[in-house]
Amino acid sequence: MKILVTGGAGFIGSAVIRHLILHTEHEVCNLDKLTYAGNLNSLTLVSQSPRYQFVHADICDLSHLTHVIEAFQPDVVMHLAAESHVDRSIDGPAVFLETNVMGTFLLLQATCAYWKALPQRRREAFRFHHISTDEVYGDLPPEKEVLFTESSPYDPSSPYAASKASSDHLVRAWRRTYGLPILLTNCSNNYGAYQFPEKLIPHMIINALEGRPLPLYGNGLQVRDWLEVEDHARALCLVLERGKEGETYNIGGHNERTNRQVVEEVCACLEEVRGGEKRQNSNPYRDLITYVVDRPGHDLRYAVDASKLERELGWVPAETFESGLRKTVQWYCENEVWWRQVLEGTYILERKGRELS
Ligand code: NAD
Ligand code: DAU
Repeated sequence: MKILVTGGAGFIGSAVIRHLILHTEHEVCNLDKLTYAGNLNSLTLVSQSPRYQFVHADICDLSHLTHVIEAFQPDVVMHLAAESHVDRSIDGPAVFLETNVMGTFLLLQATCAYWKALPQRRREAFRFHHISTDEVYGDLPPEKEVLFTESSPYDPSSPYAASKASSDHLVRAWRRTYGLPILLTNCSNNYGAYQFPEKLIPHMIINALEGRPLPLYGNGLQVRDWLEVEDHARALCLVLERGKEGETYNIGGHNERTNRQVVEEVCACLEEVRGGEKRQNSNPYRDLITYVVDRPGHDLRYAVDASKLERELGWVPAETFESGLRKTVQWYCENEVWWRQVLEGTYILERKGRELS
């Protein structure tokens, strides 16, 4: 199959492409604008493959999109390109609407025009797979056992979440109105190798390695449901191969943790991995934990019911949170060159999202 992946230079997109090239026979075109979050160094393992190509393009540029799609002739579009960080969406929401809403709209337009002109058999087999988030459902009460299901109502809290909710609605509308064959997945918090260090887990690992404070927002008792990124990539490929057209699948790891627990576990893993090594300051890593002003509109709890994916497609994640986190901490310890290059760009581990711009 020929698969057009948008946002393939990002954290999850690059994991999907590494999986597709290393473990399947599919051909991949990676269409990415290379924003601050796009990093082709995350694809060095596969970039020489004859089944991989990169196109530097913006999903907001309709004529370029149309040209790339016509030239590549995909059987599937996997749409991951987005602005993805909640804190940045608080400081500067405009680009989230441009990329996540307008960009998705333009990608749907270009894809739909291409799809309509395909011969019937290819039209029927075609899929537009929209990769979305559990944040579209808002948040859950901390004290109850309730989980997000595919039929939970949409109730997004942040500009990021609202922009992703809008994009989900657009994708479903393009199916209903124009008949475009779609798949939609909503996933919980990902972590793993090659994640941009603005996100909680790499932020904490790198700050700890640098002997900097580990800033927990508010009381640190907000809950997230963690999934290792390669498990997400495998789930996306399973949905692509076996998912029922028009359906939505929630993806999650059944790994609810408070942020405080996550950061304490990061510190414990670091003690294990780095414990024996000489450090500038030999105090325990957990002594670096500090409590800072909360994120505005902070969602209290996310927890995903992934039983539809498990029941209907037989999905089982390979990693527990403990095994995935240890692997991730080890990866950041061994791949300092990757994250040092990221920190040489515009990002300097600074706090974002404290107030409206
Ligand atoms: P990321 O920020 O790491 O990567 C986003 C990628 O999109 C980057 O390579 C960037 O260059 C590219 N991009 C941004 N704007 C673009 C544009 N206008 N045109 C083309 N490319 C553009 O994001 P991620 O964490 O890998 O998330 C990927 C997708 O998965 C997003 O749609 C996100 O909403 C969704 N998602 C993320 C998580 C998570 O925990 N990270 C969880 C669930 C869903
Ligand atoms: O749930 C899926 C979503 O998970 C994705 O759609 C988003 O793209 C992804 O960024 C992530 O959103 P979060 O806001 O949950 O992720 P983040 O890593 O920014 O924060 C995780 C939690 O940790 C959140 O409650 C805020 C808190 N936090 C974060 C940072 C960076 C801190 O307490 N301190 C920090 O320094």
